[in-house]
Amino acid sequence: MVDQRKIIIDTDPGHDDAVAIFTALGSRELRTLGITAVAGNVPLELTARNSMALCECAGRADIPVFAGCDRPLKRALVTAEEVHGRTGLDGVSFPMPQMQLQPQHAIDFLIDTLRNEPEGTVTLCPLGPLTNVATAMLRAPDIVDRIEQIVLMGGAYFEVGNVTPTAEFNIYVDPEAAKIVFGSGVQLTVLPLDVTHKALTTPKRLDAFRDLGTKQGQVVADLLATYNRHDTAKYGSEGGPLHDPCVIAYLLNPELFSGRLVNVEIETESELTMGMTVVDWWKVTNRSENAMFISEVDADGFFELITEKLACL
Ligand code: BDR
Ligand code: CA
Repeated sequence: MVDQRKIIIDTDPGHDDAVAIFTALGSRELRTLGITAVAGNVPLELTARNSMALCECAGRADIPVFAGCDRPLKRALVTAEEVHGRTGLDGVSFPMPQMQLQPQHAIDFLIDTLRNEPEGTVTLCPLGPLTNVATAMLRAPDIVDRIEQIVLMGGAYFEVGNVTPTAEFNIYVDPEAAKIVFGSGVQLTVLPLDVTHKALTTPKRLDAFRDLGTKQGQVVADLLATYNRHDTAKYGSEGGPLHDPCVIAYLLNPELFSGRLVNVEIETESELTMGMTVVDWWKVTNRSENAMFISEVDADGFFELITEKLACL
């Protein structure tokens, strides 16, 4: 019996979120206690529905899915239909899910789970704006010390921003929430654009997904072929960055990645640099280290790992 790490995936699917969810569900090393949907790439109604559609597609309708916050803490919601399409998962037409959304609110699920599971045994995996996680922390500060660690996709530093010149989407959408999470004192690992822009969905890598000959392999290849169109045009690269699965891959094999333990502060005041992750990479301040900021990945090893886990669905 594999020793399973307990995780909660907080997500806004989203093409790359979809691949992250499939990878987690294909991994015996991880036990997904639940999926909490948040507004982000598309509105909450769609991210919740997409989360269920993905569980069903993975043959895992047993995973409880909860709807969370439908807007950022203090701002109007900014979405990313230009990247993910109107449905959030353009490129594949998923049937309307048969499974039901859990009646409990995602925030209550997060709080109850962290209180009920033994302290330090649940890892949070945020793949979207940090609204749900920050709201749970605000509402129940006692849960903060009970979180094993948070491994999240968000931020950018040397790679600069993808939604403004200085900000990455997940942090930009809810910078106040990000500030709470980064200031919480929880052990934090950050997978920013600096690393995800090195994990590109090249045609060869998409072929490897398709060549699995499984329904999920085909779905991933089709989703990413659509998703690639936007990013290859934007970046002039051979493929799009596969952001969110970096979180799951990091949990499965951290040796594929490297980074630096640094101080990261979130900009919440300046209109020009709103949502910037200000990283003290060269330790030029005496601000205390609060995050492992990942910057490098063995991209071939990463894609091999994802392909291997998709094959297990
Ligand atoms: C992040 O933004 C979203 O569009 C992706 O799903 C990913 O979580 C990348 O900036
Ligand atoms: Ca996402």
